[in-house]
Amino acid sequence: MSQKNTAGVRPAQPVALVTGASGGLGQALAMELDALGCRVAVHYNRSVDAARAVAGKLDNPSIVVGGDIGSWDAVGTMFEEIQEGLGPVDVLVNNGGIRRDALMAMQSPQDWHEVIRTNLLGTFHTTRAAVGGMLRRRWGRVINIVSPSGLIASSGQTAYSASKAGIIGLTRSLAAEVGRRGVTVNALSPGFMETPMTSGLSDAVVDGIREKSPIPRFPTPEEVAVAMRLFLDSDCVTGQVVSVDGGVSIT
Ligand SMILES: NC(=O)c1ccc[n+]([C@@H]2O[C@H](COP(=O)([O-])OP(=O)(O)OC[C@H]3O[C@@H](n4cnc5c(N)ncnc54)[C@H](OP(=O)(O)O)[C@@H]3O)[C@@H](O)[C@H]2O)c1
Repeated sequence: MSQKNTAGVRPAQPVALVTGASGGLGQALAMELDALGCRVAVHYNRSVDAARAVAGKLDNPSIVVGGDIGSWDAVGTMFEEIQEGLGPVDVLVNNGGIRRDALMAMQSPQDWHEVIRTNLLGTFHTTRAAVGGMLRRRWGRVINIVSPSGLIASSGQTAYSASKAGIIGLTRSLAAEVGRRGVTVNALSPGFMETPMTSGLSDAVVDGIREKSPIPRFPTPEEVAVAMRLFLDSDCVTGQVVSVDGGVSIT
């Protein structure tokens, strides 16, 4: 039986964009992609110094780019800068994101909107900007950072959960659209990590997550980042959510 394979060839030094590479997980993702041979566009929204520090640690050519992923225009400018500095984006890691937690009965519409705008709409904007070129070149990788909150109930996080569950839906549907052109789309779901995003959580909340988890310790950003190797290397893994969460999402 013949199988039609329209996939292209992986570039020798793929260009990878990591959104939110100025943050805790993003830095580890950028460093892992650099170790895997990519040239990385290190993205920030507000923390330019942190992004420059990350770029300074990379061995391969890299650039620093800024912008609000919730803005389609800002994303367009950012992609032009990456095209000029490194070339077209082959690997897109949608990592930048926010959380604004509150019980829904008390949550402001502005906060709910901002979470969806940044996390879900931001993922659409960058992916929309990248995927056409990937399809034309017949090779690409989209890796979306999600969360156990997109898979299981998490009270106080309706906005964040909805944004991450939405990204999981986007991941599966886009994977179905683009697989025949050598582009894979997957999601990576880290468990709780100690990063700026979680620094404000109380000890009681953090202890509660640890107690619930089959493996009672938290993954480091570096332990999460190694999972990207599978997505980068495999032509056959697509539309999947890989959890590196100590098993918390099965509880
Ligand atoms: N920490 C956890 O326990 C955990 C667990 C599961 C999933 N995650 C996910 O992992 C990802 C990274 O989180 P983190 O823990 O590394 O948090 P973090 O340290 O707070 O980093 C968040 C990153 O997102 C960027 N960002 C925020 N708003 C943005 C916007 N409007 N446009 C573009 N970028 C924006 C920030 O950029 P600037 O700092 O430059 O403004 C920062 O680089 C997020 O998607 C998060 O949902 C985290």
